[in-house]
Amino acid sequence: MKPGVFISFEGIDGAGKSSHIDRLAQALRDAGRELVRTREPGGTPLAEKLRELLLHESMDALTEVLLAFAARRDHLRLVIAPALARGAVVLCDRFTDATFAYQGAGRGFDLGVLSQMERLAQTHIAENPDLMLEPDLTLWFDLPPAVAAARLSAARAPDRFEAQPLAFFGRVAQGYADRAAAAPARFVRIDAAQPREQVGAQVLAAVAARGWIAEAAGG
Ligand code: TYD
Repeated sequence: MKPGVFISFEGIDGAGKSSHIDRLAQALRDAGRELVRTREPGGTPLAEKLRELLLHESMDALTEVLLAFAARRDHLRLVIAPALARGAVVLCDRFTDATFAYQGAGRGFDLGVLSQMERLAQTHIAENPDLMLEPDLTLWFDLPPAVAAARLSAARAPDRFEAQPLAFFGRVAQGYADRAAAAPARFVRIDAAQPREQVGAQVLAAVAARGWIAEAAGG
């Protein structure tokens, strides 16, 4: 059986990940892979309840962090780890980098504590208890916060994060840049300011470069 593959998608609100996740999912299915498309916070009944709270109830940064990691652990145990063990490809809309970017860089929560919580929440799940489960590849949709905000304003009613001022998203974007610089082998930066077709091509190329789909798949 092929080994499982864990891909996460990150970026500030309005970066336009969703349609590209759908397109990549189709390319991977066409390549014959079992596909699990999921999201954070969320992905299990418990984690979806925690998502509702995180996005809509007012709370401090530590409470956000605790809810995000509680949701993540449930999601890892019940969905992501079993899927990877079966050899599936997991496409996850946001993962722990979002906690570093939003709660860490955005809210100013201690990054050292986040690293400790990352280890605590993401180990003792797989067969090797010391293995910290994290994405094999993170596609980071990078675009200027002002451009993302303009795209968002046309969309539906904002949640607690989408309603933040531009300066917040400036910090979140920097938080992603710092995480990418710290893990260059895992991150691929997608220039999300380009036209949709070219963004899609960058996504497919990044996955093809890892050998998970054929070079020409999807065009
Ligand atoms: P998002 O993934 O953008 O979903 P949708 O497209 O439905 O709006 O929304 C999730 C929001 O939660 C987003 O604003 C980022 C935020 N978030 C955190 O603050 N911390 C986290 O750990 C995660 C996973 C998300």
